[in-house]
Amino acid sequence: MLELKNIHKSFGDVRVLNGASLRLEKGTISTLKGGNGSGKTTLINIISGFLKPDEGSVELNGKKIVRFLPFRVNQMGIGRTFQDLRLATQMTVYENIMLALEKKKFAYPDKNQQKRADEILETVSLSEKRNELAGEISYGQQKLLTIGCCIANNAELLLIDEPVAGIDKDNRLKIIELVKRLKQEGKTILQIEHHPDYIEETSDCVLQMERGVVC
Ligand SMILES: Nc1ncnc2c1ncn2[C@@H]1O[C@H](COP(=O)(O)OP(=O)(O)OP(=O)(O)O)[C@@H](O)[C@H]1O
Ligand SMILES: [Mg+2]
Repeated sequence: MLELKNIHKSFGDVRVLNGASLRLEKGTISTLKGGNGSGKTTLINIISGFLKPDEGSVELNGKKIVRFLPFRVNQMGIGRTFQDLRLATQMTVYENIMLALEKKKFAYPDKNQQKRADEILETVSLSEKRNELAGEISYGQQKLLTIGCCIANNAELLLIDEPVAGIDKDNRLKIIELVKRLKQEGKTILQIEHHPDYIEETSDCVLQMERGVVC
C-alpha cells in the first residue's frame, strides 16, 4: 500500500538517505531499526510530507504523494506521531483527541464526535485522564495519547516514531495490545523502535537502516 523508491536526502554536506526503498503491505506492522542518526525519523518526515526528498518517489496505493504538503498527506490517509510527542500540553487529554478528529468542529462538537473521542480515550486506556492537561500526565500516557490522536485522525497508515522508548513496562504492554488491535482493524503500521520484546511481540517485518539505505 506504500512504496518508497530510491529516496535521497542530504542536510548540507551530510548525506542521510542514500537510495532508501521500502514497501509496506496493507494490514501489516513493519519496524524500522537502525543506529542513532541513521535517518529513520527523516524517512518518516519524508513520507508524511514534513521534508521533501532530494530524489526518489513515494506512492500510496499507486498514487504519487512525494511533494504533497503534510496536511494533504494526512488527508490521503497517513497519520503520524512525533518522537518528541508535540501534544498541545496546555489542553486536556480529551481536547487533544478532539483536535485530531477527522472533520473536527472543535468549537461546537456534536454528540457523535464527543462519543468518538470518548471511545478513543477508552481504546488508549486514558478515560480516567480525560480532563487532565496533556502536559501533566506521565510520559508513557503521553505516548498513548499521541497514538490516540493518530486513531482520531482516522488514518489507514500510521507512522509511529519510538512508541515505547523510555516508558514503563505497564504502558509498554498497553501499547503492544493497542498496535496489535489496530492491525486487526486493518490498519497498516510503520514504526521505529529498538525495544527487543516490543519488536518481537508486534512486528510482521523488521527493516534495518544502514548507511542511508533500508536493508
Ligand atoms: N532538519 C534537519 N536539518 C539538519 N540536519 C538534520 C535534520 N533532520 C535530521 N538531521 C540530521 O540527519 C541525521 C539523521 O537524523 P534522524 O533524526 O533521521 O535520525 P534517527 O535515525 O531518527 O535517529 P534517532 O535514533 O536518534 O532518533 C542526523 O545526523 C540529524 O542530525
Ligand atoms: Mg529518530
